[in-house]
Amino acid sequence: VHSHLEESIRPYIDLIDTLRSVGIHKDLPLPTIVVIGDQSSGKSSVLEALSGVALPRGSGIVTRCPLELRLKKVPAINWKAVLTYSKKTDESVNLFAGPIKPSKLVSGKVAQSTHNEKKIEFADPSLVEEHVAAAQNELAGKGVGICDELITLEIMSPDVCDLTLIDLPGIARVPVEGQPEDIGKQIKRLIMKYIKKLETINLVVVPCNTDIATTEALKMAREVDPEGKRTLAILTKPDLIDKGTERSILAIVHNKVIPLSKGYIMVKCRGQQQINEEIPLEMAAQMEREFFQSHNHFRCLLEEDKVTIKCLAIKLTQELVDHIKSSLPQLQDQIRNQLWNVKKALKGCEAGPPEDLKGAKEFLIETLNGFNEKIKSLLSGEPMTGKT
Ligand code: GDP
Ligand code: NA
Ligand code: MG
Repeated sequence: VHSHLEESIRPYIDLIDTLRSVGIHKDLPLPTIVVIGDQSSGKSSVLEALSGVALPRGSGIVTRCPLELRLKKVPAINWKAVLTYSKKTDESVNLFAGPIKPSKLVSGKVAQSTHNEKKIEFADPSLVEEHVAAAQNELAGKGVGICDELITLEIMSPDVCDLTLIDLPGIARVPVEGQPEDIGKQIKRLIMKYIKKLETINLVVVPCNTDIATTEALKMAREVDPEGKRTLAILTKPDLIDKGTERSILAIVHNKVIPLSKGYIMVKCRGQQQINEEIPLEMAAQMEREFFQSHNHFRCLLEEDKVTIKCLAIKLTQELVDHIKSSLPQLQDQIRNQLWNVKKALKGCEAGPPEDLKGAKEFLIETLNGFNEKIKSLLSGEPMTGKT
């Protein structure tokens, strides 16, 4: 059953990743899973358990740039990863010296997508933290600042599930030393930018040992998705709840308190002590299962497929595929429209120069001018206004 599921999923996820890698997401919206939550709610722990990869983590702000995690299940290979990010610098401006204002060019598509891209390939999972941290330092500066630039980490391994996720900085309530007063606002603005897109699935990570109903991340997700159609809540730290709150937490998982149409999944990840003891992720998964099996209140959730990381992975993969399937017709329409526009513009060039010299001259000048206009508008990122 499992391998069949994977086979039916692979082509869709490949398609999306390919489209994204050629930069199409700048023109066409593509579906993605975005992970949000308060600082230390367990976002990195969930991503780590899903990916099987140790990510930068700890107390305080660790994720300072959006991190896109592309997991690809590839049978019979050794684990490998490719980290890519691009830095906007003045160099890209110098490449296009000319009549176009540099300020325009920096925000243009050409300069951003092709220049200053860094690509680091490695085959040792223990280097992930180091490489991601170095990329963050380069993009957001050393320290506690945040930045909008995306870092992409592609991981190929037989042991991961086919998912593409984006980890975002956690919501901070109080700025720490060295952070601007409005850091909370900055982070929320960054999170909003991602979760408001209709084509994202919002994964909201909420610890069981907090007041779930008042969680900021859940509020933000409900703000952009009032019916909870594309919001899935992950309840973490079920081993840390206050005795006596089990029933109210069960009611939440059963969707009776803050209804979300995609519902809730509860997971138990490694606590700080298990990390210090270097408990491997596979063993942690086993311990997670045992935790739920022996839990007086939460045991029932096992049969309901509402607990464990494994269950979350299967559910997420299915969600992503459903989402991609449903947005494909719209994507196709947009591609068709763009193709039509390009064909129309092409048609205008088909005529060729007239026979007489004067006419041919005028034709050539007109064609070249039109061409020049188009290049300028392409570079400045503005829509084409080709004469037809
Ligand atoms: P993030 O800031 O949201 O990325 O949170 P982290 O994943 O770094 O987790 C914050 C702390 O909570 C870490 O010390 C984790 O070990 C701990 N933690 C995460 N999930 C669980 C859990 O299910 N149970 C327990 N006991 N601790 C957890
Ligand atoms: Na953290
Ligand atoms: Mg984190």
